[in-house]
Amino acid sequence: MNGLEPPILRFERVSRRYGRFAALEEVEFAVWKGRILGLVGESGSGKTTCIRLALGLERPSAGRLWFRGEPYRYRPQELKAIRRRIGFVFQDPYDALDPQMTLEEIVGEPLRAHGCWDARARERIRQLLDRVGLPDASLKSYPAHYSGGGLQRIAIARALVLDPELLLCDEPTSNLDVSVQAQIINLLLELQRERGLAMVFVTHDLPLIRRIADDLVVLYAGRVMERGPAEAVASRPTHPYTIALLGAGPEGKRPNPRVGGEAGPVPVAGCPFAPRCWKAQPRCGVERPPLLPVGPGWEAACFFPETQTQMQ
Ligand SMILES: Nc1ncnc2c1ncn2[C@@H]1O[C@H](COP(=O)(O)OP(=O)(O)OP(=O)(O)O)[C@@H](O)[C@H]1O
Ligand code: SF4
Ligand SMILES: [Mg+2]
Repeated sequence: MNGLEPPILRFERVSRRYGRFAALEEVEFAVWKGRILGLVGESGSGKTTCIRLALGLERPSAGRLWFRGEPYRYRPQELKAIRRRIGFVFQDPYDALDPQMTLEEIVGEPLRAHGCWDARARERIRQLLDRVGLPDASLKSYPAHYSGGGLQRIAIARALVLDPELLLCDEPTSNLDVSVQAQIINLLLELQRERGLAMVFVTHDLPLIRRIADDLVVLYAGRVMERGPAEAVASRPTHPYTIALLGAGPEGKRPNPRVGGEAGPVPVAGCPFAPRCWKAQPRCGVERPPLLPVGPGWEAACFFPETQTQMQ
């Protein structure tokens, strides 16, 4: 953030509609080189939609995405040029890796897709498998030989084979045994640091994101509710939704954020969180709160943000 370099990825008032349903509405955030942006929110809040847009798998209905100061363009060659610079790791490694392909084919697939297969490709795959903790893996073996953690290591090697600048992780450990989750998180963090990657990390695990993220974006029903430095937002949340998500609402009034469930219908006018908010006032039902500053580099979309909530 030196004021000269643009962010690696930027969402500028990005909306995504499916018919009349707004999966995302005017979402804005930026991901910087060497920093981890945590994207949190309950099920259906639009996290994966953000990831799909960042990968160019979907186009915004309105607004624009930027990669290093260049707008996304959707002609095949231009999109391919952006995708070449982005690695991704999804939730389910069993789903993400073709059981018919060997490790060499899986990890080398982006090299082939981008015309980068050369005499050193095999050596590069070998080194990467080494780096992700599979030094003894045979290039000719198949995914069936590996457990969930091993498969996710293979997926990480594939994500990095083109030396991306941005790594997108969509709940990369939620389908893994608890015993291997920490290993995979630590591996991702090491790789992020040693390569200076910009990273978007989607998770339901709030204590984890508080520990690893630099910046935090809290989504509710496709809208940004609060965003700012992760430690500040997680330790002193100001938006009632963030407070609820962190389990810190006032006793008896706390709207169960039902992490893992779906939010109810969102009102067409006013604050989207109003039907579940214990602080709602008449104004909240008619006017949509914009993102307003609540601290340095920190904003909340609420007319009545809390200032005293102190998390442990
Ligand atoms: N292709 C589609 N057509 C219609 N609705 C869609 C489509 N893709 C996503 N949605 C809807 O958009 C909303 C956001 O979905 P998304 O997958 O981004 O949520 P999420 O935050 O990733 O949830 P989860 O935590 O369960 O993974 C959901 O209500 C979903 O049903
Ligand atoms: S704007 Fe009103 S309804 Fe919305 S979160 Fe703030 S207090 Fe609650
Ligand atoms: Mg998702």
